[in-house]
Amino acid sequence: MRQVPEVALPIVLDRTAGGSLPNQIAESIRHLTASGVLRAGEPVPSSRALARHLGVSRGTVIVAYDQLLAEGWLVAIAGSATSINPQLPRAWAAPPAVSARGASRPQEVPRIDLRPGRPLQDEVAGPSWRAAWRVAAAAPVGVSVPLLGWPGLRAAVVEHLRRLRGFNCEPDRVAVTAGGREGLSLLLHASGAKDVGVEDPGFPSLRRVLHRRNAIIRSLPTDDQGLVTTKLPETEPPEAVIVTPAHQYPFGGTLHIDRRLALLEWARRHGVLVIEDDYDSELRYASEPLPALASLDADQVALLGTFSKTLTPALATGFVVLPRHLVAAVEAVRGDLGQPVSLVTQRAVAEYLASGGLARHTQRMRRVYRRRRNQVVAALAGLTGVRVSPMDGGLHAVVQFDRDERSVIDALRMQGLAVASLGEYWASEPPGSQRGFVFGFGGVSDADLAEGLATIRATLGGRPSTIGRPASPHRAPGAAPDQPS
Ligand SMILES: Cc1ncc(COP(=O)(O)O)c(C=O)c1O
Repeated sequence: MRQVPEVALPIVLDRTAGGSLPNQIAESIRHLTASGVLRAGEPVPSSRALARHLGVSRGTVIVAYDQLLAEGWLVAIAGSATSINPQLPRAWAAPPAVSARGASRPQEVPRIDLRPGRPLQDEVAGPSWRAAWRVAAAAPVGVSVPLLGWPGLRAAVVEHLRRLRGFNCEPDRVAVTAGGREGLSLLLHASGAKDVGVEDPGFPSLRRVLHRRNAIIRSLPTDDQGLVTTKLPETEPPEAVIVTPAHQYPFGGTLHIDRRLALLEWARRHGVLVIEDDYDSELRYASEPLPALASLDADQVALLGTFSKTLTPALATGFVVLPRHLVAAVEAVRGDLGQPVSLVTQRAVAEYLASGGLARHTQRMRRVYRRRRNQVVAALAGLTGVRVSPMDGGLHAVVQFDRDERSVIDALRMQGLAVASLGEYWASEPPGSQRGFVFGFGGVSDADLAEGLATIRATLGGRPSTIGRPASPHRAPGAAPDQPS
């Protein structure tokens, strides 16, 4: 007979209440089954074990079980433990996920999800990935991990940055994080910055981190080359700014060297911490990326890195390269709040980086994404009054048009396609000309991307535009030119 594990069923008997003890036990088991705590087919504790657990006689439990057997809640098969009736799921199926109100709204769960931010993850778990996790799983766990993270991973990150980002930093300035957002949160904790400038438009998820910390958010203007450094505030500057110099999010402009130097000079003059969001910088298709901004000034710039895009958000691992003056403060935060990434994960990522697995994967993905980017340009070419700006790096494209943003996005949603509204990227009110949506081309299958692009084309092409050219001043470098009317 199968061994039934000791189950601490949450049954509380009330000896002062009116109902008999067997009735109370039976009622509790009915309730636990109906609410899904006890599952169909699952063995219940033996009458002896449950009686001991509840402090009642075995006979009391047997009476309760007999009642439940008679009602069909339990089944007793010779040679097996008494179990919850395996036929019950049909009667006690979980309620449908969509509420009656939601059900009237079709396509709440998108058939094709083109919201940006997701890489193609099918090929992550290849041989070197599996080998890295085998090594990590076999390594001893009884070791103490420094507050900034496991040294093996920090050294591998240094090498990764040196080779891919032209940035040579010391491992004792690298802290392991649970990704870009967690890294930002760590920097805010450690620096105490409460007044933070953000590029406008910019990545809404990083702004949400600022909201969570009740920071004052200052919007900094951008153009097709990224942050407009001539408009940085000279009076009452913020304590920190978040910038995306490799490719501005979402339009993709690269911050040229003159602006980089102007930003750093301004930051030094006012003592502003520059937070370089270096997301996606390895995924570049047209030209080699400029070295990280942090390589120009290690004292003023903190570099935020994440493996969410190059590998998978499921890894929840990233890093930050700290200006030296923040190292002790970050260690103190980690000391109080703990390290968010397990040692096993840190070892596996280190092993994967050191074996060249990530470099090979990135190279493969760059080929796939470059092809997809070209596919996006070709599929959406020639639409009147529509501008398509796929970045020359990264995994998304921006589509702008001169019609109502919401109705286009709703029309796509009704056809099962999810995209992100361009308006969401603004911290301030978006300029009137900035209507459109952002969609990712990384995280879907080839077939879904082709279908998604056909749907976008049909939807945008269905209603001829009233103007020939979109009014936006933005154009990503390497982006498709405005499509002729
Ligand atoms: C612009 C930008 N910054 C940072 C991140 C990092 O996010 P995560 O917290 O998932 O590592 C992302 C991820 O999508 C991003 O798109």
